[in-house]
Amino acid sequence: MIELNSVSYAYAGSPALENINLQIKKGEAIALLGPNGCGKSTLLKLINGLVSPDSGVYTFNNQEITAKKMQDPAFAKRFHQKIGFVFQNSDTQLFCPDVYDEVAFGPRQMGMTEEAIERRVNDCLTLLDIHALRQKSPYHLSGGEQKKVAIACVLALNPDVLVLDEPMNGLDPRTQRWLVNFLIQLNKAGKTLITSTHNLDLVQEISRRAVLFGEEHSIVADLATEKLLAEIELLKRVNLVDEQYQR
Ligand SMILES: Nc1ncnc2c1ncn2[C@@H]1O[C@H](COP(=O)(O)OP(=O)(O)OP(=O)(O)O)[C@@H](O)[C@H]1O
Ligand SMILES: [Mg+2]
Repeated sequence: MIELNSVSYAYAGSPALENINLQIKKGEAIALLGPNGCGKSTLLKLINGLVSPDSGVYTFNNQEITAKKMQDPAFAKRFHQKIGFVFQNSDTQLFCPDVYDEVAFGPRQMGMTEEAIERRVNDCLTLLDIHALRQKSPYHLSGGEQKKVAIACVLALNPDVLVLDEPMNGLDPRTQRWLVNFLIQLNKAGKTLITSTHNLDLVQEISRRAVLFGEEHSIVADLATEKLLAEIELLKRVNLVDEQYQR
């Protein structure tokens, strides 16, 4: 479904992705691990078409995704319907006056009828248990509430692939547990999940496969999550965990 061949990307000369080769099949649950600044968010942005490879090829459903294609509004719309992105900082992706409009934004862009939109928004608010927030301004929500709204917005488009950048960040332990169970259910329902996380306790639950980035912005391991977590020397070498780390 997703294939990156020798993909590299740099921000104004400063490298963020170096020669990335990665294949993700439909229905997989995959995690990206790695130290701060290794390129996880950049890779997720690239998978979502927000940045394009400087070199190498990114294909989604056998179609090459290029900056030029993403500039075509009809193409971009179809693409964003298939793949949804929950940003690392949810507040940067919320901009509507209230939560209802925020969740309705995507479906409206897709040209659904107001009646269908209302049903879709209500379903998503129910799924995330956030009906009480429907008239609130997204700016006045707590971090965890914003995260739930951001997830509702993405689910409102019913995408095949969900990309979540550090979704557990800033959530209380109970809400983290809720989110983990929710993601497991989505994956069971057939959604492909791509998640970046620093949470080594929960990563096993939300992924069967884990990709580890090193500080040189390239992939150093691509293994079953359980196996990768057992590679403690490797986790130390890429500076993801400290010398004292034990499982
Ligand atoms: N908009 C930007 N402009 C310039 N450089 C950037 C930009 N975004 C990221 N970078 C740089 O690209 C590299 C990769 O950043 P990225 O955000 O992908 O890392 P990350 O693995 O997601 O880190 P973290 O775990 O801290 O979220 C870093 O060196 C970062 O400083
Ligand atoms: Mg990041």
